[in-house]
Amino acid sequence: MTDFDTEISKHDGFSISEQGNLLFEECSLEELAKIYGTPCYIYSENIIRKSSREYIRAFEKCNIDYEVLYAGKAFLVQALAHILKEECLSLDASSGGEIYMALAGGFPAEKIHFHGNNKSEEELVFAIENNVGTIIIDNFHELNLVDRITHRLNKKVNIMVRTIPGVDTHTHEKIRTGQVDSKFGIPIDDFLDSFPGIIAKEHLIYQGIHCHIGSQLFDMQFYHLAIKEMVETMKHIEEKYKVKTNILNLGGGLGARYTRKDLSLSISDYVFELVGKVKEICRENRLAVPKILVEPGRSIIAEAGITLYRIGAIKEIKGLRKYLIVDGGMADNPRPSLYDAQYEALIVNKFNNKPVENVTVAGKYCESGDILIQNICLPQAENGDLMVFFTTGAYHYAMSSNYNGVPRPPVVLVNNGEHGLIVKGETYQYLNQNQVFPEWLAHK
Ligand code: LLP
Repeated sequence: MTDFDTEISKHDGFSISEQGNLLFEECSLEELAKIYGTPCYIYSENIIRKSSREYIRAFEKCNIDYEVLYAGKAFLVQALAHILKEECLSLDASSGGEIYMALAGGFPAEKIHFHGNNKSEEELVFAIENNVGTIIIDNFHELNLVDRITHRLNKKVNIMVRTIPGVDTHTHEKIRTGQVDSKFGIPIDDFLDSFPGIIAKEHLIYQGIHCHIGSQLFDMQFYHLAIKEMVETMKHIEEKYKVKTNILNLGGGLGARYTRKDLSLSISDYVFELVGKVKEICRENRLAVPKILVEPGRSIIAEAGITLYRIGAIKEIKGLRKYLIVDGGMADNPRPSLYDAQYEALIVNKFNNKPVENVTVAGKYCESGDILIQNICLPQAENGDLMVFFTTGAYHYAMSSNYNGVPRPPVVLVNNGEHGLIVKGETYQYLNQNQVFPEWLAHK
C-alpha cells in the first residue's frame, strides 16, 4: 500500500482501479471529466443514503419520537428530494423555491417544514395552499401575517416558534445564529410573554419550539446549553400556561470534515449526545421527553460531494508563489472567500506522485480574493491536469452564482459505476433567456 492508498482511503467513496485510475463510486474521474466537462459537481448517491440512514438508525436506537429534516439550503435538487423521500427524511425548506423544487421532485408536502426570517406573503400562501406540514414562525410580523393568510384561506396550519437560546458558538461569525443579537428568531423572554397571544390564534396549531445555534459545529457543549434553555422554556410554558410543548426542534449544525485539521464527531454520537441530554434535562425538570427534530444539512451532504476542475494557466512569481489556476473558482465555490474555508485537493492524473511543491490554487474570476486553496503541497502540475476537491457537497452549488457571466457547472450523480446528470450545465443561452429590452430601447 502506498502513502496515497492510505490517504485516499480516508475519503469515503474513493478507490483505485486495476489500471491505476482514481474512481469515485466506481466511476473514473478522468472519464467523468471527459463526459461532463469541467468544472463539474459530483455527488455520491451511496454516501447521501448512508448518512441519512445513520441519522435514522441512531434515532431508532434512542427509543423516542423523532423526525430528521434535511436542510435543503445546503443543496437541493429534485433528484435529491426523491432520494430523501426514499430514506424517510423530512425537509427544512427555506423559501418558496425550495418548496416548489421538493414538490416537483415528488416530496410529500406534509413532511416539509417552512423556515425563513422574512417569508413573503406570496411564499406563505404558496406553502399553505400546498399544505406544507409546519411553518416555523420567526418573528411577530410573520405570526400576524400567517394568521391573516390562514383566516383568508380558511385553513389551519401547524406552527413551531423559532426562539433565540442565547448560545454563542465558536464557529465562523457568519454562520453563528444562536446568540442574543441575531436576525433569526424571537428572544425567549418575548416568546414567553407573548405566548397567550400565540396560542389564541384560532387557525394556528402550536406544536413546539425551534432553535438553530450555528453551523460546522463539533463541540457538544453548545448544544447542551441550548437544550437546557429550550427544555426550561418548555417547562415554563407548561407551568405558567398549562400548555404542553410536544415538539423540540434543535436545528442543524453538525460539522463536516473538510481537512484533516477538522475535528470529527460521527452522526450517531451526535444524535446519542443530543437525545441523552434532552432526556437528562427533561428528567431534571420532571417533563415528558418531547418529539425531537433535527435539521442536518452539511453533515448529510458535504462529504457526498466533490468538484472537478482542470488546471489552465500556471504562473510563478519567482521566490514568492506559484499559482495553479483552475477553470472554476468563487462562483462555484464562494466559501473560501466568504468564510476562509479550507479544502483538500489532489491532481487526479498524478494522485500517486509524490507532493513536491507548495502552490496556491486560484480561480478564474476577476477578483483577487478568488483563491480556492492558499497553500497546498502537490506533485509538479501541468496545464491540462485534472484536480479533485473533496467535501464540496454543502453550500457550493446552492450558493453558486453567474459572476462574470459564467454558466453554472453541471451536477452529476454517481453510484456503483453508474453516472447521470441531475442538473444540466448552464449555457450562454440559458443565461440570457430572461433578458428583455424595455420598449424605449431600440433593439435591432
Ligand atoms: N436549520 C436552520 C434553521 C439553518 O439555518 C441551517 C443552516 C440548518 C438547519 C442547517 O445547518 P447545517 O446542518 O448545514 O450546519 N453557507 C454557510 C452555512 C450557512 C448555514 C445556514 N443555516 C456555509 O457554507 O458554511
